[in-house]
Amino acid sequence: MKEINIKEMKFNPFTLIGNEWMLVTAGNERTGCNTMTASWGHLGCLWGSNDPTAVIYLRPSRYTKQFVDATDRFTLCVMDKSFKKSMTYLGTVSGRDENKVEKAGLTPVFEDDTTYFAEAKLVFVCKKLYASELKEDGFLYDSIIEKNYPLRDYHTMYVGKIEKVLVRDDEYLG
Ligand SMILES: Cc1cc2nc3c(=O)[nH]c(=O)nc-3n(C[C@H](O)[C@H](O)[C@H](O)COP(=O)(O)O)c2cc1C
Repeated sequence: MKEINIKEMKFNPFTLIGNEWMLVTAGNERTGCNTMTASWGHLGCLWGSNDPTAVIYLRPSRYTKQFVDATDRFTLCVMDKSFKKSMTYLGTVSGRDENKVEKAGLTPVFEDDTTYFAEAKLVFVCKKLYASELKEDGFLYDSIIEKNYPLRDYHTMYVGKIEKVLVRDDEYLG
């Protein structure tokens, strides 16, 4: 993997997150790691000097959330098409019940006190800046709650500063 400048990237964040999905991973060599599939999130600029940031949303039940909460960083990995079935698996089964990383044939790379996967084609290494559960009284339309939170298990929103972008080839370079 090689590190690139985020400003030189070319990609569509809507199809990247919404269609290709990403793996949210946290933990380190000492704590172990866990990963899950995510298709909700944002990439953009916030705070600092329009710092590059990623926002992810994790429900309280996710085992991955424990790793994100316990450490300072998380990573977002984009995988190529051949991993689509594995990503469905990683987004359906919990790491509490199975060794998902091993079963999906992923190779953890422990770096910067976090974890990404050697098989990824694109990795964002993010430092947590903000974490807060979405509040019921913040929703302006009850229909959003009824549709997405029948159990009132509101996501925690995490804003991470993108510290590093790693790519396997030139696909994301303009
Ligand atoms: C395509 C897809 C997208 C998902 N997006 C999210 C998401 O953005 N946030 C979330 O909390 N769960 C999301 N999930 C569900 C988790 O990936 C799933 O519950 C997973 O099994 C959690 O694993 P864990 O308990 O090992 O963390 C998604 C699942 C799939 C299949």
